Amino acid sequence: MTNSDMEAIVDTSDEWIVQRTGIRQRYLAGDDETTASLGEAAARAALANGGLTPADIDLIICATSTPDNTFPATSVNIQSRLGMSHGFAFDVQAVCTGFVYAVTTADAYIRGGLAKRVLVIGAETFSRILDWNDRTTCVLFGDGAGAIVLEATEGEGTVADRGVLTAHLRSDGSHKEKLYVDGGPSTTGTVGKLRMEGREVFKYAVGMITDVIQAAFDATGTTADDLDWLVPHQANRRIIDGSAKKLNIDAAKVVITVDLHGNTSAASIPLALATAAGDGRIKKGDLVMLEAMGGGFTWGAVLLRW
Ligand code: ACO
Repeated sequence: MTNSDMEAIVDTSDEWIVQRTGIRQRYLAGDDETTASLGEAAARAALANGGLTPADIDLIICATSTPDNTFPATSVNIQSRLGMSHGFAFDVQAVCTGFVYAVTTADAYIRGGLAKRVLVIGAETFSRILDWNDRTTCVLFGDGAGAIVLEATEGEGTVADRGVLTAHLRSDGSHKEKLYVDGGPSTTGTVGKLRMEGREVFKYAVGMITDVIQAAFDATGTTADDLDWLVPHQANRRIIDGSAKKLNIDAAKVVITVDLHGNTSAASIPLALATAAGDGRIKKGDLVMLEAMGGGFTWGAVLLRW
């Protein structure tokens, strides 16, 4: 759905949307698609790309805030769609930071010896929780899914190792009124719609994002110069550019897909990874920083070697 398609729905313009956000189009799930069906497709693509089958996976973590049902978890739904009845699966809900939390969780399960190969999925259908009469939010979001597989390897515990090198997660619930969904099973008994004070979120975004990225650099003794790719959550081009600039990260190292996908919440980072790994930019051995900030607030960064 392009920005001009949005002009037919609410009082907006391509110029406003591009200037304020960098978004040019977004994809919406079809009537026969759900978060689990998008997640399943992404999972199958990731497995095929890695030469793996569902039999090789012992844990599925799906990051989503738009589950098919309140329960069971979307990850369990995806597990069954993949024909798996072995292993275990659960969802992680940290809104736009969901994928960063999920990768960190997968890494901790691997390090703890609880899993060997983890399918980590970010999947969302935000179009289903948007107020399509509210131009301040409905133009910003899209639907999608992406997935990666993390597996246990031997390492020396240095920054030369592959996989997650360090993770820094934060949350602060005192900001919950700035970005939330106004329904839920325990309050209204409805699904609810997304509500956001965009300007307020914007005010905090760059500071929070740059703090956790800097923490990841400090923990590993690396700098912006060592980084091959910054793969940020794709909410807004101005937030991404502002964060990169503040940390002296070269703009050429920043993967941008917000123009193509809009804000797909927990799906935006794996979609960006799929785009940049798919077109050959991200290569084996590259140092990659993932970062996100979203509802809660939640925010976090993961530094990994691809
Ligand atoms: N089309 C045209 N005009 C619009 C639209 C629209 N779609 N939406 C708002 N406007 C108008 C407003 O009504 C306002 O008009 P007024 O001055 O006459 O009152 C004007 O544009 C400016 O509105 P602001 O909200 O101040 O615009 P701003 O420059 O802050 O941009 C935006 C808004 C894009 C939402 C920005 O604040 C933003 O990106 N915030 C961060 C959102 C974000 O990153 N969320 C990430 C987390 S998402 C998650 O966790 C699920």
